[in-house]
Amino acid sequence: MIKRGRYIVWEGSDGIGKSTQQQIAVQESKARGIPTLATREPGGSSIGLQVREILLSPDTGDLHPTTELHLFLADRVQLWFGKLAGALADGYDVHSDRSWWSTLAYQGAGGELGFEEVIQAHRLSLPDAYLNPDLGFIFYMTEQERQERHERSGFKEFGTKDRIEQQGDDYFGRLLEGYDYAMRELGAIGISAAGSIEDVSARWWPYVFPE
Ligand code: TYD
Repeated sequence: MIKRGRYIVWEGSDGIGKSTQQQIAVQESKARGIPTLATREPGGSSIGLQVREILLSPDTGDLHPTTELHLFLADRVQLWFGKLAGALADGYDVHSDRSWWSTLAYQGAGGELGFEEVIQAHRLSLPDAYLNPDLGFIFYMTEQERQERHERSGFKEFGTKDRIEQQGDDYFGRLLEGYDYAMRELGAIGISAAGSIEDVSARWWPYVFPE
């Protein structure tokens, strides 16, 4: 019998470095010969790519908060049932850049929809295997650490901001409430994103690649 793969989530606010860490894990996993699938939300499936376009294009304009919630949910329902559940059953370790915890943080806390509506909608449509990943990391940083990193790297904003990135500072200030909730109540593992790429990798490595 094939051993079921692990569903591993890489989560955190924009620009925190989670995608870099996910890529390091995916590379190492493949190098070890583990069947490995990298995915992301929104847009991990072909239908999801179309949903992503609606969600992130500035041309979309304002969406009702509940519409926005259900579009993110539609993207992940399609991804889970169309792709991930099967891959996990086939023994693949699935590494996902973002998960429903983003909706808790962005739409629930940032957009002030509230956790209850987000949780209820997800429980109706997705199984525990999705809602409670085998491993889920949330990368976090203090505001001061973030500013220091930007100064050190000569960070400049470039390109046009997507629809979500166009939200104001208040919105982003509230994201942490959602991520705190996921760490307190939902088993997410908090990982400090401060320091070098290697420093950060060393913090999650023992969970993903135990000796
Ligand atoms: P992402 O693909 O991580 O951004 P990028 O392509 O810029 O690296 O995510 C796109 C944006 O969507 C990001 O600002 C976070 C937001 N988002 C939500 O608001 N709710 C969600 O449920 C998800 C998955 C993402």
